[in-house]
Amino acid sequence: MPIPKAELHLHIEGTLEPELAFALAARNGVELPYADTGALREAYRFEDLQSFLNLYYELMAVLRTERDFDDLADAYLARAAVQGVRHAEIFFDPQAHMARGVGMGTVVEGLWRALGRSEETHGVSTRLIMCFLRDESAESALATLDAAKPYLDRITGVGLDSAEVGHPPAKFREVYEAAAALGLRRVAHAGEEGPPEYIREALDVLGVERIDHGLRCMEDPGLVERLVRERVPLTLCPLSNVRLRTVDVLADHPLPAMLDAGLMCTVNSDDPAYFGGYAGDNFDAVRESLGLTPAHLRTLARNSFLAAFLSDDEPRRAR
Ligand code: HPA
Ligand code: ZN
Repeated sequence: MPIPKAELHLHIEGTLEPELAFALAARNGVELPYADTGALREAYRFEDLQSFLNLYYELMAVLRTERDFDDLADAYLARAAVQGVRHAEIFFDPQAHMARGVGMGTVVEGLWRALGRSEETHGVSTRLIMCFLRDESAESALATLDAAKPYLDRITGVGLDSAEVGHPPAKFREVYEAAAALGLRRVAHAGEEGPPEYIREALDVLGVERIDHGLRCMEDPGLVERLVRERVPLTLCPLSNVRLRTVDVLADHPLPAMLDAGLMCTVNSDDPAYFGGYAGDNFDAVRESLGLTPAHLRTLARNSFLAAFLSDDEPRRAR
């Protein structure tokens, strides 16, 4: 029996398995520039975050209708449930779809079809977190928040993803302030490829309650001390870090040192179709490669529920 856990860092578009990509391409009359699923899997060799993002955005072309988003989310929830996920906070990237003429309503209502029945069908509770693409403009993020206003009963929070370096959190101050005023919870990717300073900025300027990745905090002892003191959850994604070459091999991952430092770490899958594993696979991988003890694994699982947006109470960590 896999340990029960919450998944807090999961891009729904990153759960698009090659088989589903081809099935949706056929259904929607979209041509993919790969002969078959084997040829597509061959393309899953990444140099860095950007080389992954290029393929991630390319394959999204097959997602067109509410039914496609329903099928995508339902397939993820079924796999996650088998691996012990009891609660999933799911990122989605509306700007990447709206740029292709797929509306906010199609994305949110399609995802919601699967999420709305997930407790019953899979035993997994869910939240939706809408991400802004940080390599797009602040104005585009504001327009995206505006487009989401009819769907705010379905959306728990906002996040920030895509190419990190050169796009510091402060660029999105205004949209995060507007999101907070709408009662949305706030998270942001920071310190995946970007410097520790981006983690500070996400906390101080955007008022985030969790940091997605946050790996590079380890370069800044003062920042580590602060993250420990303020109990800021970090949503780590070990297999992602290996595939995107943030760490060379899993045995070099700083997770044990981060736990020893007292950081509130969680383990998640990020884009499991691309990075070789779902949440339970990430737990298994860190147990095997990093020698984590059963006590460590229990801490990681407990942290995942403590850091989840499971109640609609006031944010635990005020600005
Ligand atoms: N990092 C940043 N943006 C992303 C990622 C990631 O790992 N996956 C999907 N969008
Ligand atoms: Zn991510």
